[in-house]
Amino acid sequence: RRTAALALVKVRLLIPWRLRRQSTSKDIIAQLPPQVLLLEQTQQLHALMSIIRNRETVRGDFIFYSDRIIRLLVEEGLNHLPVVDKVVNTPTGQTYNGIDFQGRICGVSIMRAGESMEQGLRDCCRSVRIGKILIQRDEETHQPKLYYAKLPNDIASRFCLLLDPMLATGGSAIKAIEVLMDNGVPEENILFLNLITCPEGINNLISRFPKIKIITAEVDPGLDANKYISPGLGDFGCRYFGTD
Ligand code: URA
Repeated sequence: RRTAALALVKVRLLIPWRLRRQSTSKDIIAQLPPQVLLLEQTQQLHALMSIIRNRETVRGDFIFYSDRIIRLLVEEGLNHLPVVDKVVNTPTGQTYNGIDFQGRICGVSIMRAGESMEQGLRDCCRSVRIGKILIQRDEETHQPKLYYAKLPNDIASRFCLLLDPMLATGGSAIKAIEVLMDNGVPEENILFLNLITCPEGINNLISRFPKIKIITAEVDPGLDANKYISPGLGDFGCRYFGTD
């Protein structure tokens, strides 16, 4: 048994780290623009991603493990909001030099897949306001078209966490950001949260809106012929909500 174990260790050492690893490649990471805030590429995240990317994963697990990644994304998003100093008194009679968030936030989900991220935001931010935007491809023009938007009426004065699990071509996201900006949200107050993105989507988005931030868990190499992220995880909305 000891010989077998040693052989296994040897084999693992022989396989370059790069080949074993399937998450965001070092080359992609090196080329990410400063607007992209990639979650720390830990083994934990890698394992969660391996579950949701697996086509054999059943829906209950897909939801559970996606929710865990969504929670990480929301926590990281909150890290990029402005803060002010705040001194608090502790029960020991001492003071603690703390901080407090400055400014208010809201969430906006891009329907339908983005709705899967709403609970993760609510779990971190009690009674957070959440708007919704529905964008679909127009049958005639093939361009993304706005079908519905319901946003908090004071959205212009809030930091906005835009929610969509997959940033593929960026078409819907660009339209959604236009809607937010038409409603008075400054570009620099928009944080776009996704589980997986790719260079094409990132470039399309930031060439149009260079001041937004994209917070993502992994960046895949590209899109397939059907404009799905590849290797990706398939249709996130269908897998999360159990539709075809
Ligand atoms: N939307 C998805 O659900 N998956 C993709 O790969 C791209 C867009």
